[in-house]
Amino acid sequence: MTCTGIFIAGTDTGVGKSHVSSHLLRAASRRGLRVAGLKPVAAGTTFVDGRWQNDDVEALVAASHPPLDRARACPYLLAEPASPHIAAAMAGVVIETPVVTAAYGALAAERDWIVVEGSGGWSAPISTRQTMADIAVALGLPVLLVVGLRLGCLNHAMLTAAAVRASGLRLAGWIANEIDPAMPHKGANIAWLDQALGNLGVPRWGHLPWAGDGIDPTDSRARTAEESHAATCEALDMETLLSASRAPQALAKPIGIKPK
Ligand SMILES: Nc1ncnc2c1ncn2[C@@H]1O[C@H](COP(=O)(O)OP(=O)(O)OP(=O)(O)O)[C@@H](O)[C@H]1O
Ligand SMILES: [Mg+2]
Repeated sequence: MTCTGIFIAGTDTGVGKSHVSSHLLRAASRRGLRVAGLKPVAAGTTFVDGRWQNDDVEALVAASHPPLDRARACPYLLAEPASPHIAAAMAGVVIETPVVTAAYGALAAERDWIVVEGSGGWSAPISTRQTMADIAVALGLPVLLVVGLRLGCLNHAMLTAAAVRASGLRLAGWIANEIDPAMPHKGANIAWLDQALGNLGVPRWGHLPWAGDGIDPTDSRARTAEESHAATCEALDMETLLSASRAPQALAKPIGIKPK
């Protein structure tokens, strides 16, 4: 099978890109695919078991199969928990897109499917001149938008959709992710996005429920994590998602929201 991949963008930082990426990798791995996660830039490390590590990279590595060396999952592991451009400057590092595409290429040579997790939101800066969008464009992958359900997410979702399409990449689908169990009108928010993004030819591939505090796929409480994963998989349209990853890059419809 030729390797394909998907770029995971979010409406903001902390909206569930890692949560979704881990579940996608595990779900694809269960289907017999050789999968790997790639975090091009990870900002913020802690010293654990004698080495510096980043939670997002750990989660992607844990969900990759066959096992993946940490260094291969993240070409830019930066200490400072800040915007990538600040963390890079503090480390004296210049983030270069060819380094990221080379890391992707090395993984693609031996895996069937790669999940690339962006940092922050679509336009998060990686230098004075470039943003995460430049990394996504360099990779040329279809984009999956994770919408973290909270007040303001409709605006953030539509702005991100416009920016992705303006970059020339295909916004292939979106996932609604419950990050605030107390949010009112979740259904009405999802319904509005179903129509607005649907009008742009962007389907929803899932609605991930609130999994509970402290529950994630890397949790050592295996049964609970397993249950969480099973519930999440039921809420994901993996067949469509994997086949959309393989479809050629092309904009489906011009940008703009038209009432039905
Ligand atoms: N559906 C969910 N149910 C419960 N908790 C969730 C859910 N989605 C995300 N979370 C939690 O919300 C927090 C932020 O999620 P996550 O780290 O996946 O966001 P992110 O978009 O990857 O953030 P970053 O920009 O830092 O990479 C985490 O503690 C995560 O476990
Ligand atoms: Mg993350």
